[in-house]
Amino acid sequence: MKIIITKDYEELSAKAAEIMLEVVRKNPRAVLGLATGTTPLGLYANMIADHKENGTDYSGIRTANLDEYKGLPKTHDQSYAYFMRKNLFDGLGIAPESTNIENGMAEDAAAECARYDALLEALPRDIQLLGLGSNGHIAFNEPGTPFGSGTHVVTLAESTVKDNARLFKDISEVPRQAFTMGIRQIMQAKKVLILASGANKAEAVCKMVKGDVTESVPASVLQLHPDCVLIADEAAAKLLGE
Ligand code: F6R
Repeated sequence: MKIIITKDYEELSAKAAEIMLEVVRKNPRAVLGLATGTTPLGLYANMIADHKENGTDYSGIRTANLDEYKGLPKTHDQSYAYFMRKNLFDGLGIAPESTNIENGMAEDAAAECARYDALLEALPRDIQLLGLGSNGHIAFNEPGTPFGSGTHVVTLAESTVKDNARLFKDISEVPRQAFTMGIRQIMQAKKVLILASGANKAEAVCKMVKGDVTESVPASVLQLHPDCVLIADEAAAKLLGE
């Protein structure tokens, strides 16, 4: 794993944009694996600024997202489909037909997982962007998820439901389940870019980089990826030197 340590979140976001833009400029038909959450927001803002200033072309780019809440339509303002449109796709002029994400409203969850598995197989990702959970999760693959897993439905931990409740009117509205890309499919991307910012990620960063490769720390699997780049700011990297 290649490790880049930046002084702060701003520099992390700029470095991440350099890596993402290199992929897009090299291959204007690249497939980008994308993530939601707080961490990629600075990267996404940089990509939009570059698109506006330098005209980087996204007309041939296709995307595949990691995860989606089960039970939320893509028009719901807390759905990940909505998040991506608002924070990235509209700013880059990427058409809805060029983007992919699990359908949170699918009636047959098993069929939806099979559909997404087939889609990911047919659309190999040139780069997969990841955030890191403070418990070492990647996408919604929580500790204990088999490394061989494909797309599946997860029941959210009560702590995750509570964390996310701030974004909903009432905790009863927070979805209890989500669809997620599996660890096997994250590992299939040609390149993986994982971002970690803030002291609350320091322990997870340390375990991911220096700990055993174990299913109890899902991100530790990335030690086995042939082209994985971690960008961590000083706060998130603070335990690496010890
Ligand atoms: C997002 C995702 C999650 C987040 C992780 C970190 O699509 O799958 O694994 O990347 O929970 O979230 P933030 O960036 O909000 O700290």
